[in-house]
Amino acid sequence: MDISNGTFNYSELTPENLINIIFNYMGRIAYTRDLDELLVLMADMGRQLVVADRCTLWLVDQEAGELWTKVAHGIGRHTVPMDSGFVGYAIKHNQYLLIEDAYEDSRFNHTIDNQTGYRTKAVLCIPIENSEGEIIGAFQAINKVTPEGKFSLKDVAYMTLVASYSGKALESAQLVYEIEQTQKEIIYVMGDIAERRSKETGNHVKRVAEYSKLLALKIGLGENEADLINMASPMHDIGKVGIPDSILKKPGKLTTEEYEIMKTHAEAGYNLLKSSRRRIIKAAAVISHQHHERWDGKGYPQGLKGEQIHIYGRITAIADVFDALISSRCYKLPWDLDKVVQLFQNEKGKQFDPLLVDVLLQNIDDILLIKKAYTDISEDYLS
Ligand code: C2E
Ligand code: SIN
Ligand code: SIN
Ligand code: SIN
Ligand code: FE
Ligand code: FE
Repeated sequence: MDISNGTFNYSELTPENLINIIFNYMGRIAYTRDLDELLVLMADMGRQLVVADRCTLWLVDQEAGELWTKVAHGIGRHTVPMDSGFVGYAIKHNQYLLIEDAYEDSRFNHTIDNQTGYRTKAVLCIPIENSEGEIIGAFQAINKVTPEGKFSLKDVAYMTLVASYSGKALESAQLVYEIEQTQKEIIYVMGDIAERRSKETGNHVKRVAEYSKLLALKIGLGENEADLINMASPMHDIGKVGIPDSILKKPGKLTTEEYEIMKTHAEAGYNLLKSSRRRIIKAAAVISHQHHERWDGKGYPQGLKGEQIHIYGRITAIADVFDALISSRCYKLPWDLDKVVQLFQNEKGKQFDPLLVDVLLQNIDDILLIKKAYTDISEDYLS
């Protein structure tokens, strides 16, 4: 990109404004590892620097052949085809675009304006490179909010500066995002291994993960810890990998001996996970071990009582039983909500932490929304 021979049209921002904006955002960007947050911060910075009405940071998703953005000013989450519109053009040709009126340019993609009634006029697009010089996305600023209403080469220069800073931070955030998504998928797959063998439980681990997170947040654990429980609780039944099919899939009630064998899954799961030094796996080890303990001390495998049971174990116990009751299992039909609520009221302070039972019942509407969002197809047929 060559901007050296342009005539700079000095406008609204004073040099002090400029420095302030850059320092303000660079400080915050340096502390942000979350990709979504970064996209918003950077788009905001771009918008202020060029005094635009809107600014969006688009990222290339090579595998999907799409450009995507999490949050754009006023338009929300969105994906477009790779070669779509000005952004697609700027990315494909590694070239900035300075457009006075979008509607007079055939490259303009009218979809968003048609959907929202917005009138796009002036447009500025600046590609973003990673450290290898590959184009990973682009800034798109829309509608200069000065009387003049046009972007200038000065704006190109500012935005190019922002783009060069942004490339590096985005690259590491994308890497972290990629690793976290991979980690999450592996966790669900691990949790699913035990469940999949009995095919009706498809989304059980995902529901338990979401119920657990909700309960954690509602009793006042922080966002980080709630996320930890969300990631770890899907592994609660990993120990069932060692249970023979003849027991795991038995269509009817287990005999006493079969139930004794089934009960070994808690300790077995703990033994699988306990040696890890990873935070999520350590939490999963505790949850595997303690999700069948009871508040009154009559649970298994250790017979722990009350607050001797780790809070992660107490939370997952409630999430797991709620889901087991409200869903169908190879050995039972789903229960009506009334009956489930009744059980939790009866078992408050016996099987379950009384405070957590209150929290569950107070938030039952949100819990049911989760249940609905992750309904198993086979259960749709049943109900
Ligand atoms: P699961 O199906 O995930 O059930 C988890 C927990 O939900 C059970 O732990 C129990 O506390 C509760 N639960 C499930 N169904 C009922 C029910 O009909 N009534 C009541 N009161 N509670 C219920 P639990 O008992 O330690 O069982 C652990 C696992 O053992 C179960 O996990 C399931 O895989 C298996 N299991 C338990 N009972 C039977 C059975 O009769 N037949 C078969 N095939 N499997 C069973
Ligand atoms: C996504 O598709 O949501 C992320 C993929 C990427 O990092 O490009
Ligand atoms: C059992 O007591 O066999 C487990 C709980 C149940 O399925 O009712
Ligand atoms: C099963 O249907 O027996 C497995 C359900 C579960 O592990 O929660
Ligand atoms: Fe279990
Ligand atoms: Fe379970």
